[in-house]
Amino acid sequence: MYAVITGASKGIGKAVAERLAAEGFDIAICARHAGTLKAAEADVMAKRAGVRVLAEVTDMSVKEAVLAFGRKVLDTFGEPPAILVNNAGIFTPGKVHEEEEGHLEKMMAVNLYSAYHLTRLLLPDMKRAKQGHIFNLCSTASHKAYPNGGSYSITKFALLGFSKNLREEMKPFNIKVTSVSPGPTWTASWEGFDGPPDRLMEPEDVASMIWAAYQLSKQAVVEDIQMRPILGDIG
Ligand SMILES: NC(=O)c1ccc[n+]([C@@H]2O[C@H](COP(=O)([O-])OP(=O)(O)OC[C@H]3O[C@@H](n4cnc5c(N)ncnc54)[C@H](OP(=O)(O)O)[C@@H]3O)[C@@H](O)[C@H]2O)c1
Repeated sequence: MYAVITGASKGIGKAVAERLAAEGFDIAICARHAGTLKAAEADVMAKRAGVRVLAEVTDMSVKEAVLAFGRKVLDTFGEPPAILVNNAGIFTPGKVHEEEEGHLEKMMAVNLYSAYHLTRLLLPDMKRAKQGHIFNLCSTASHKAYPNGGSYSITKFALLGFSKNLREEMKPFNIKVTSVSPGPTWTASWEGFDGPPDRLMEPEDVASMIWAAYQLSKQAVVEDIQMRPILGDIG
């Protein structure tokens, strides 16, 4: 049994990969930068003796690269994944009426289209197997507009739409779909934040929620996870 986690060289994706490796899964991960991906691969391998890890340098904003990653995953493991975590995403703050030209398109490519294309590539095998659990890393910005959300928030609303539609479509195929919407979580996205460290959640908190949702009986699915720091959103 294995799990695919996109954008897993750091942050939430890496925490999820480490948790699932520790829980007994083999792992497929990707990211753009080879150095941090290699380091993450080593950290994931250290979580459990004998864990098999496929780590592929991939730019998930490029459709052909996404499809090549998906095919490599299926070729390597020879079966569909038990878990797919569509996590790769970038966060650049902005305002719809002021942000740079191309801002929306750039974020759509990573935050939405990567999940759409990878999921569609893996689904035929998952549907045949009639099993699997897909987690989509949305955000509290998928549910609520906020100052400086701009295009990021638009992409996350769209990803939640993708996730909800997929949930409906996958019912007859016994494939679970869960939208995961964290609020502020300590990762590179928050570099430079000078508030108290416990004002943000830990990436491991998100990994724990994903693991908890996965563990339910086969007839139960968690459709939406919303989680926030105890003091709520920031900004
Ligand atoms: N942190 C938060 O407060 C927060 C809150 C709500 C939702 N989220 C969502 O959670 C997900 C993870 O966020 P994070 O904060 O953990 O991010 P992060 O620490 O910045 O890590 C992002 C990961 O994705 C990879 N990545 C970025 N662009 C990529 C691309 N084009 N192709 C392949 N990999 C790519 C990065 O590696 P490379 O740079 O090497 O590619 C890295 O491994 C995102 O979807 C984000 O929107 C985060």
